[in-house]
Amino acid sequence: MKPFYITTAIDYVNGSPHIGHAYEKVLTDVIARFRRLMGDRVHFLTGADEHGQKVQQSAQKRGIAPPQFVEEMCAEFRALYDRLNVSYDDYIRTTEERHKRVVRQMLQKLHDQGEIYQAEYRGFYSTRQEQFLLDKERLPDGSWPEIYGEVTEIVEPNYFFKLRSHQDWLVRFLTENESFVFPRFRQKQVLEFLKEPLNDLCISRPRERLAWGIPLPFDENYVTYVWFDALVNYYSAVADQPGVWPATWHVIGKDILVPPHAVYWPIMLHAAGIELPQALLVHGWWLLRGGQKMSKSTGEVVNPLDLIDRFGVDAFRYFLVREMNVGQDSEFSLELFLSRYNSDLANDLGNLVNRTLNMTGRYAGGVVPAAGAAEEPERELQALWQRTHDEAIRLCEGFQFHSALDRTLTFCKAINRYAEHRAPWKLAKSAAAADQAALRTALATMAEALRLGVTLLAPVMPATREKVYAALGHTPAPKWSDELVWGDRLTGRPVQAALMLFPRPEKPGNG
Ligand code: MSP
Repeated sequence: MKPFYITTAIDYVNGSPHIGHAYEKVLTDVIARFRRLMGDRVHFLTGADEHGQKVQQSAQKRGIAPPQFVEEMCAEFRALYDRLNVSYDDYIRTTEERHKRVVRQMLQKLHDQGEIYQAEYRGFYSTRQEQFLLDKERLPDGSWPEIYGEVTEIVEPNYFFKLRSHQDWLVRFLTENESFVFPRFRQKQVLEFLKEPLNDLCISRPRERLAWGIPLPFDENYVTYVWFDALVNYYSAVADQPGVWPATWHVIGKDILVPPHAVYWPIMLHAAGIELPQALLVHGWWLLRGGQKMSKSTGEVVNPLDLIDRFGVDAFRYFLVREMNVGQDSEFSLELFLSRYNSDLANDLGNLVNRTLNMTGRYAGGVVPAAGAAEEPERELQALWQRTHDEAIRLCEGFQFHSALDRTLTFCKAINRYAEHRAPWKLAKSAAAADQAALRTALATMAEALRLGVTLLAPVMPATREKVYAALGHTPAPKWSDELVWGDRLTGRPVQAALMLFPRPEKPGNG
C-alpha cells in the first residue's frame, strides 16, 4: 500500500516558533493521526529551513557561527513540536547531507538539460540588510524605508531557471487537475496569477555575499537561493525510500502558495521528470485582534509554550483546530481562548468526565455496571451518537475539523443532558428494583457514551483520550473503527475516583 505521505512547510529557524508554526504542525498532525486511525500507512514529514541570508544575519547578531545557531534554533522548534505531541515520522533539516546531495543532483540534471542558464541579474540591494528589495517595498514617494539604509542598483551575473517555458504546461495541468489545490478558491488564485507571463527564476547568489547555502554543482562560486533549496526537502527526505514519493498532501500557509508551491515546485518537478505531489492543502493565518499580522520585529507574537504551560497541550490543540476553518484566517485573543476553554472543555467535557467517575464511584462502588434494556432516552442518545460519528468522519475526510469538533462537543453536551434527565442521584435514593435497574443503565450509558466521545476526539486530543480511557479502566481494541461502535465495552471495569482534565484558571477573565 502506498503510504499516505503528508508534509508541512519547513520552518525558517531565524527566530523562535510562534502560534502560526504551531498551528500548521498541529493541523498536519491531526490529519496524520486521523488517517492512521482510519487504517492508512502514514509517513509524516516536517523540518527546518536552515540556509539563507536571514539565518546568516541572525547568527552574526548573536556572534556565533551559522551551524551552531541553527542547531540551537532547530532544537527549540523540535522541542515545541514534541511538547505538542506532533507525531512526525521524519524531521528534515536542509543542512543535512541527504538533502544537499539531492538538491545538487537535481540542479545538475536541470543544468545538463539546458533548463538553467546564466544571465545578468538586476536588482536594488540594501547593504545594511544584505538583501535585494522588491519594488513594492518602496514608499509612496519612491524612496526606500529607513531600515534598509543605503540602497543601490546592482547588476551581477546569476543563474536562472527557465520557468517561463513551462507556463503553458502548468496552466494545462491545473485546468485538468481541478483539485490540485485545496480549498478550491486558492486554485483559482493560482490560475489568475498565471494569466501574466512568468519571469524566469533567479536561483543563485554569489558565494562571497551569501556563504550559508548549498553550492551549485556546476559553479561553486554560487550557492542556490531559497526556493530551490527549501522546496526540494519534500523529495530529498524520501529519495532513498522507494514507494513513498509522491506526496499525498503538502500542507502550507497561504503566503507560500503563489508562486513557490503552486508554480516553482510543480515546474521544477515537471522539468526534472519527477512525479508531482497529489495536492496542496493551504491553510489561513492566525492574526492578532483586529486582523493585524503577527510580527517578530514588533514582538507581537503568541508564544504557544505559555498557553501550553497554563492550559495543557490538548486544550491548546483543541483551540487551534476548533477556531480555524481550514483555509480561512482566524484571530487569536486570550479572551477567546478562555471562553472556549471554559465552555467547551472545563464545562462540557471536563464536567462530563467528573460526573461519570464520581457517580460511578458513589452509586456503583466504582465499577461500571451492566446496562439493562435501552429505553427512549438511551435510544435517543445512541441515535445521536450514530449521526455524530457519521458526520464527524465525513467532515474530517474533508478537513472540516472545526465542525467535526463542534458535533463531538454537542454529543458531549447531550450526554450531560441525558444525565440530568435520568438523574442518577435521585434513582440512587430509591430501593425499588426498577429504579436500581435504571440507575445501572444510566451509569453504564454515561460511561459508554463518554468513551465514544473521547474516541472521536483522538486525532485532536490524543492525550485526553488516553487519560479518560485510563480513568475508565478501558483497554482499547486495536482498530479505531471498532472503538467507535456503541457496545457495552466498559461493563465491570473499575474506574478512577476522579480526573481533573481542565482545571478552571485561577482568575477568569485575565487568565
Ligand atoms: N521556510 C519557508 C517554507 C519553506 S517550505 C518548502 C517558510 N517558513 S516560515 O517559518 O516563515 O513559515 C512556516 C509555515 O508557517 C508556513 O507555511 C507559513 O505559512 C506558516 N505560518 C507562519 N506564520 C503564520 C501565521 N501567523 N498563521 C498561520 N501560519 C503561518 O515560509
